Order: sequence, then structure tokens, then C-alpha cells
Amino acid sequence: MKILLSLDDYCKAYNLQIGVYSPLSYFVDSSDLISIAKEFKLKDGTFYPLPIYMPLRDRNLSNQISGQRVDLIYENDVVGLIEVLEVYEPDKDDLCIHIFGTKNIDHPGVKYFLNEPKYFISGKPTIFKSPSFAKEKYFMSPDQVKFEKSKRGFQSLAGFQTRNIPHRAHEHLQRTSLEICDGILIHPLVGWKKPGDFSKEAIIRAYKILIEKFYPKNNVIFSLFFSPMFYAGPREALFHALVRKNYGCTHFIVGRDHAGVGGFYKLYEAHELASKFADLLDIKFLLLRGPYYCKVCESVVTDKHCRHSEDMICKISGTSVRQSILNDNEMPDWLIRSQIANVLSKKDLI
Ligand code: ADX
Repeated sequence: MKILLSLDDYCKAYNLQIGVYSPLSYFVDSSDLISIAKEFKLKDGTFYPLPIYMPLRDRNLSNQISGQRVDLIYENDVVGLIEVLEVYEPDKDDLCIHIFGTKNIDHPGVKYFLNEPKYFISGKPTIFKSPSFAKEKYFMSPDQVKFEKSKRGFQSLAGFQTRNIPHRAHEHLQRTSLEICDGILIHPLVGWKKPGDFSKEAIIRAYKILIEKFYPKNNVIFSLFFSPMFYAGPREALFHALVRKNYGCTHFIVGRDHAGVGGFYKLYEAHELASKFADLLDIKFLLLRGPYYCKVCESVVTDKHCRHSEDMICKISGTSVRQSILNDNEMPDWLIRSQIANVLSKKDLI
């Protein structure tokens, strides 16, 4: 028997195998899924913030595969196998309320989750053919990043999650973390993202400029993080931190509206949740305020070191960068470095 994988399924199965989602090494079952959504833990009580689930894409198999060992097929190739422990039908509406805080389909993560097939399966996958992204130039496994960290002699490493090209606020957060840590892992997520976000190619192109022309030679590790985005805001910040711990990070940066979308979460809700669960995660959070450009200070600052009023402030955000590109508006240097702005176009938005 065989089941078909989407690229996201394949990616998650491979990540489970190479330790990206550790301590999880299997696709969750119905009890784990509910327990993660409601209590941030696996059914055995281990802290876990987001569910790594496996949809059953061929609904006709739902009565036949429980307890079976089945082949995993991606684009006509047998890439692995799984012993199916459970076939279950999740209550997606209820789960959305817990995981995303809403079941509004204007939320891209909710829409994606509700569009998943009716049945999910649980079990530990074995992948014997690696996905093609594992051979890409900027792919690094958790072990490879840890090796690089020790080769460079870093005692401390800050993890930076992003789904965007770098603007001035990102740069401020990255530079701040380098005041505290020996190195930074700039780790853009390039799995499934919502339409309108930046393409993988644009992110690589933009970061190459920032890293090769501006940052010191030795203290940045740049690698792509192949995993789908949930847009689950504060909860996803915990997940992003847990994952980066698996890559050897000792610190993790959480800025303003981390993994948020369209105003569904409060700007610093992720800071609150991170503080609540910090003891359960073996990583230190760098909870950083939102940098903006102040016309009086004439620099990118935060409300921790600038006294000026709203009318002197220019907000910096990925949304304004994307909007400017879509509307052919020139972008000021305080929003994004001109060297980066010059290499971006509408074609870079997915
Ligand atoms: S995310 O979905 O991956 O969080 P993004 O790439 O925009 O989106 O953000 C990467 C990191 O930078 C997150 O920690 C986020 O909180 C932070 N960040 C993004 N924009 C700002 C900003 N204007 N001010 C402060 N932090 C920001």
C-alpha cells in the first residue's frame, strides 16, 4: 500500500527524521493534537507548541491503512515508509480556535489548515530518499549548523526567524543580538507561505547583500529553514524558538508581531507567551521592541531609547516594503537599504 505526499508532508517527514522538530519524531495522533492545541504539550506531558500532523491525501484509504506499513510516495518516487498507528478525523474548527485563536478564513494559516484533507494519520516516518531541497546550497541540517557553530568557536548563537527580505528593523534586531551573542543564525523560513510573501530567491539575493557587504565576515550563519509557515503568532514564536534550539541556538529573537498576520495578534503578545513558557524551553529569549525611524534622532531607534512623539516617527514593516514594491513606490533608505531595494521587484512576491 502507498500514500501520496505533498511537498509540505515530505518536508515535515524529513524534518522529523533529522531532528528539526525534536523532541517530536513522529506525526502526532489525535490525543497529541488536542493536547498540543489546548495545553501546549504532547499527550505524555512534554512541552510542545504546534502540531506536526500528516494529512491522508487519499480519503479512500481511511478504512484500510491503520496498523499497516505503507510506502510514502512523492512525485512517483518511493521516498520512505510509515507504520500507520492511527487514522483520525480532527475537529478542525475547534482546533483552529485553540491554535490560531480564530477560525476566520481571512487568516492564511486557518485557511490552509481547514483546506487540509478530512483525515490525518499518526506514526513515525522513515525517509530513505532526501528531498531535493536538502541538496541546495543554503540548506543545513541541525547537525551541520551545530558543527559550524563549534568550528567558529561560538559559545552563544542567536536564532533569527524570518519570512521576509531584511529591512531596517530586522537589521536593528540582528545587530542588537550580536551585542549579546557570539554569532547569529539568520534562518529564513522558505516552506509554504501565503501569497504576497517574498520568494526564496528574493530572500537569498537580499540577504547576500546584507551579509557580504555589511556584516563582519565570521559571525553570521545563513541557512534556509524548509518548513511550512502557520502564521500562528505567539504560539508559533515558541515553536520557532524550540526548533532553533535544535539547531544549536542558545538565544532566540522575538520582535514585534512575531509570525503574526493581518492584526490577528497583539504586537507584543508573543513576548508575553514567551515569558510564560521560558522555563520549559532551554533557550533564552531576546524579547526586542519594534524599531522605527525617528526624524529627530535621525536613526532607527526604539521606544526604549527615543523620547519623540508619534508625528516624528516612521514605522518600519515588511508590509510597507511589500506594498511599496506593489505600488512602484520608491522606498526610503530608513525603511530598507537602497542596495537591497534596488534588487527587488514585483516578481519577487509569490
Ligand atoms: S515572521 O513571520 O517571520 O515573524 P518577519 O520576517 O517580518 O516575520 O519577522 C522576523 C522577526 O523580526 C520576528 O521576530 C518579528 O517579530 C521581527 N520583526 C519584524 N518586523 C519588525 C518590526 N518592524 N519591529 C520589530 N520587530 C520586527
